[in-house]
Amino acid sequence: MEFKNILENNVPQGHSAEEILAMAMKMQRSMSLYESGIKEICTKLEILQREAQVQSIHNPIESIKSRVKNIFSVIEKLNRKGFEVSMESVEKNLYDVAGVRVICPYIDDIYVVAERIRRQDDLRVLIEKDYIKYPKANGYRSFHMVVEVPVFLSDSKRYVRVEIQLRTIAVDFWASLEHQIRYKMESQIPGEI
Ligand code: GTP
Ligand code: MG
Repeated sequence: MEFKNILENNVPQGHSAEEILAMAMKMQRSMSLYESGIKEICTKLEILQREAQVQSIHNPIESIKSRVKNIFSVIEKLNRKGFEVSMESVEKNLYDVAGVRVICPYIDDIYVVAERIRRQDDLRVLIEKDYIKYPKANGYRSFHMVVEVPVFLSDSKRYVRVEIQLRTIAVDFWASLEHQIRYKMESQIPGEI
């Protein structure tokens, strides 16, 4: 969501626009930890990809995308869900600040990759949601995992939450359009669509 919208429509109650901006700038400094968490997860996935390439066996990973939620979307989500706006609150209450999307050729590949992630004993798996076995009413099918990955800093080891979405090429194509349509049309989506 745009910064402008946040300030116009979503200023957490009791805060001025200036206060939000100051909060965002302060929180932004801690956001690099999520960038590092994404790097750790992407490296693990790239290692699995490379292994398949080197051995000339089927590669269950077609491509990998990632993003860190921007700080204003983070603040908007905290506000929308009624959580305090602070970095401690982000760490406690949000699961999708760091997101990695793994695109697989086939459905079976998704379960193969999920199992390879589960087996990595430096990761803590917090949540698994199987929208393939139990698709959402709109047809959404993905396998979601939330993991915590250790990130080593100069003087400490921090566990960083990363949401991993595993889906097929076909579902990724559909979900990208569905997301756009939902965003653009909000509640007025014609039934046929
Ligand atoms: P959020 O508060 O949105 O994070 O939902 P949640 O905590 O219930 O998590 P869930 O695992 O259901 O969804 C997390 C993410 O999956 C969303 O932010 C989307 O990226 C994706 N997602 C879930 N449902 C849909 C859907 O119906 N369509 C599309 N395009 N993406 C979806
Ligand atoms: Mg989400």
